[in-house]
Amino acid sequence: MRATSRRPEEVIIVGGGIIGCSIAWQLSCRGRSVRILERQEPGGLATHAAAGILGPFNETDRPGPFLDLMRRSLHLYPDFVARLIEETGLSPDFEPSGILSVALSGEERGGLLERYAWQSALDPSIVFCEPDQARLFEPALTGPFDSAIYYPDEGHVFAPRLIKALLGALTRRRVPLEQGVAVTRIAPSGHGTLLVYDQEGECREAEKVILAAGALLSDIEIPGTRIAVFPVNGQILAVRSPGSFYRRVVFYPPHGYFVPKLDGTVVIGATEESIGPRTRVTPAGLMEFLSPLAGLAPELLDLPLHHTWSGLRPKSSDGFPIMGPHPECPGLFLAGGHYRNGILLAPVTGEIMADWIDGGAPDASTPFLPARFLKSDRG
Ligand code: GLY
Repeated sequence: MRATSRRPEEVIIVGGGIIGCSIAWQLSCRGRSVRILERQEPGGLATHAAAGILGPFNETDRPGPFLDLMRRSLHLYPDFVARLIEETGLSPDFEPSGILSVALSGEERGGLLERYAWQSALDPSIVFCEPDQARLFEPALTGPFDSAIYYPDEGHVFAPRLIKALLGALTRRRVPLEQGVAVTRIAPSGHGTLLVYDQEGECREAEKVILAAGALLSDIEIPGTRIAVFPVNGQILAVRSPGSFYRRVVFYPPHGYFVPKLDGTVVIGATEESIGPRTRVTPAGLMEFLSPLAGLAPELLDLPLHHTWSGLRPKSSDGFPIMGPHPECPGLFLAGGHYRNGILLAPVTGEIMADWIDGGAPDASTPFLPARFLKSDRG
């Protein structure tokens, strides 16, 4: 292995996706020196594939710390986006358009009403709608359905443009991002720093290392117990819509969602497939979320197909994010397992991880510490 004679970096972030870039930006805003190492293209595993939905109430079936974390991040979004635009002039098309969640059949109405009861106690602006009222929010729902909930504060962002703006901000801040560096191993140096080895055998040294490598996080050999993150393939597609007929994000759980983007495309998704670290797009996969749309919003299926693609969501073994120090390796931090909500959770993850690097122990990260896996493994 070739050792470097460079001075140790203050912070190395492994992974240049939305999570790694958001942490790097937050650290740079706080005056920290940081370097990002990226295996391929920044955002290539999950960020570029994401539909960009910002919908906390649609991503959990109960109140608690995970919902609180998502809501806190949603509230950070306007300022996060405004600061990125101010720094770069690049807009990530943040659109707090509101989200509708639809019960397709009468059997689903009870579940929707239960959700409405606990969710509206937390946010009184949420509205339970019969179909006619829901169609005022989204006229594209021309087919029959039973009922819906409208979430006025939720929305979406264009994920590829968001990471472009973050990368622009990092460039302006002279944060180095090295592409083509596949980190394979982290090891203690023996004098308080960490050594970061790549596939070429090159070694970089850092005071602190943050693993933000998405679905490939647990491929990296580390001192202490490795914490598992699994890839979950999501197939997705976009159609081209003339004008701006489609207005709101619509969830039709458990089948899928559609997201009208400001550029006139409508993104429709998505499968969840545990097939290892590979992506695929299949007719059967696309049918999972397209078939129910034929009843709900049939005109969408007549629009020209623009693009199909897929990406790898990083899922932890309990499905919740992992944020904080590795308890068995001083100086090593993990930021991963954001699963379906990396885009939504990017601003809050940046803040929480920067607080950790600043020497704090942020309250909000407590339920999400890496240590929870070690405890449960040891009974
Ligand atoms: N956030 C939606 C998804 O992962 O499909």
